[in-house]
Amino acid sequence: MRDVLEGLDSDQRSMMSELCILVDKEDNPIGGASKKECHYGEGALHRAFSVLLFDKDDRLLVQKRASTKITFPSIWANTCCSHPLMVSDGGAATEESVRSAAIRKMEQELGVPSEISDKWDFREIGKFKYSSRWDFEWIEREIDHVLLVRGDTDIKPNPNEVEAFEWLSLDEVRSMVTQTGRWSEEIVAPWFKTIVSAYLPEGKSIDEAMESKSDEILQFGRMSLNLGDSSQILAQISEHREHAEDHILKGLSKIGQSRLHAAMSHLFTGGGKRLRAMLPILVGEAIGKGHEGHYVLGACIEIIHNFTLVHDDIMDQDPVRRGLKAVHIEFDDSTAINAGDAMLALSFEMLADSNHIDDDQLRLLVKNIGEMVRRVAEGQQEDFEFEGRDFVSEQDYLAMIEGKTSAMFQMCAKTGAIISGASDEMIETMSEWGLMLGLCFQIMDDVIDLRSDTETLGKTSGSDISSGKRTLIAIHALSSGADMPNFKAAFGNENASESMISMAIADLEDSGSLNYAWKRALDYHEAAHQALDKIDPSPSLDILRTITDFQITRIR
Ligand code: IPE
Ligand code: IPE
Ligand code: MG
Ligand code: MG
Ligand code: MG
Repeated sequence: MRDVLEGLDSDQRSMMSELCILVDKEDNPIGGASKKECHYGEGALHRAFSVLLFDKDDRLLVQKRASTKITFPSIWANTCCSHPLMVSDGGAATEESVRSAAIRKMEQELGVPSEISDKWDFREIGKFKYSSRWDFEWIEREIDHVLLVRGDTDIKPNPNEVEAFEWLSLDEVRSMVTQTGRWSEEIVAPWFKTIVSAYLPEGKSIDEAMESKSDEILQFGRMSLNLGDSSQILAQISEHREHAEDHILKGLSKIGQSRLHAAMSHLFTGGGKRLRAMLPILVGEAIGKGHEGHYVLGACIEIIHNFTLVHDDIMDQDPVRRGLKAVHIEFDDSTAINAGDAMLALSFEMLADSNHIDDDQLRLLVKNIGEMVRRVAEGQQEDFEFEGRDFVSEQDYLAMIEGKTSAMFQMCAKTGAIISGASDEMIETMSEWGLMLGLCFQIMDDVIDLRSDTETLGKTSGSDISSGKRTLIAIHALSSGADMPNFKAAFGNENASESMISMAIADLEDSGSLNYAWKRALDYHEAAHQALDKIDPSPSLDILRTITDFQITRIR
């Protein structure tokens, strides 16, 4: 057998024989294994730590891992990550061994003298389990202990470990983990993104995070990392976006009545992610055959999505969408209702009119898209009926979002597979992926409604609270038996002020309700990845995995 370490950096190679601590799912030590055994092939679950070092100005030290690293080279991550080593105690003395490992590695990687860091007050605030594949050979599979610490010191990076470092404000950290602005073209460690969303969510201060401690092992599941250049992947996706957009504009240009045309086009001018426009082609490419028909299909479903938003904002009485006045505000109720109807009809017309869709597939598409719209309507009806109901269970909620939101993701994926000529089995797999993705999407959407601000969201943040929406968060809060006076004062109270809403959100953080929902979203995120396991690996599949991960890190 060839030596898998051949040709790799010699310092990094020698560290591959260090003895890590193997653990079971509960983080109990079950033996030792070399760093290489822990990370090669299928890998083995082992103990690790992640340090986040803040200076006196609340800036976080981040590093770009050196290109000589064997796993995850040249990507940006938190201050320092590594493994406590197996010593004579068999890996038992967890907190202390994690702390001393952190001190040892911060010296080796960043040149922080151990005499200095030894005096720092490291806070272990929680741990999480995850895996992340780097390539066909190397993988991370860890229970990671999260340490927050404050300290001011000079950094002297070891070039064999660290290529660059920076001190970032929390705002900059958020831009990094959401890969916006200057970070859009960098690769950022998946575990770091999830650490920030789990332990330093919007609105939580560093001091609050340091004071919180949880014994629960959060299940992050699988975090994928696109293997290629992420900027290339983004460019590839934006090309799809523009292509589908052309079909949308062409379709809308059919509308001769000018005020109706303006109302139908209104939301498209305000941005939006165009996720549903891109899903069919991304699915088509991942299972082997993408063609022009996928763009037509994506454009149709995106227009239908926009129709549901126009009507949704009337039903939810929400005045803002994509940073613009909602259609019924910018125009009027009658025009908005009419525009929505016309958008629905236009989509079917475009589909039937396209010479990129086979006649014999058209019937199946009409059936599936018809089913989709019907399920959305059923879900929407439940969504607003729940507001007035005495009791709504988690089961009720899941059935409701399966209709109002997931049906659309599911059908994007399913119909994308159908027009690729995929086998029934593959169509079923993609349909399952879309369904899980949609469930994850909507739970996260409810979480983001409370954690993002109106400007970022482009829609009124916190409106789910004042309108008494039975989101998973509200369901958890209402059944928790916790006091939550601020939440109760604002929930379903149309006159709740902005400050009442932010106090209600603080209650939901304290009761663990936001975190509870977020964890359920992670379950569906993992289920979506499991569906993708049935597809042959390819760069196009990596894009579907990236889209899957995007759901749990997105902020709008
Ligand atoms: C909003 O969907 C409607 C929901 C199902 C929550 P998106 O968040 O995908 O909306 P746009 O298209 O990006 O604006
Ligand atoms: C929207 O659900 C679902 C549809 C438009 C079908 P929400 O009402 O939760 O979406 P937002 O929060 O307004 O985007
Ligand atoms: Mg709604
Ligand atoms: Mg709404
Ligand atoms: Mg919502």
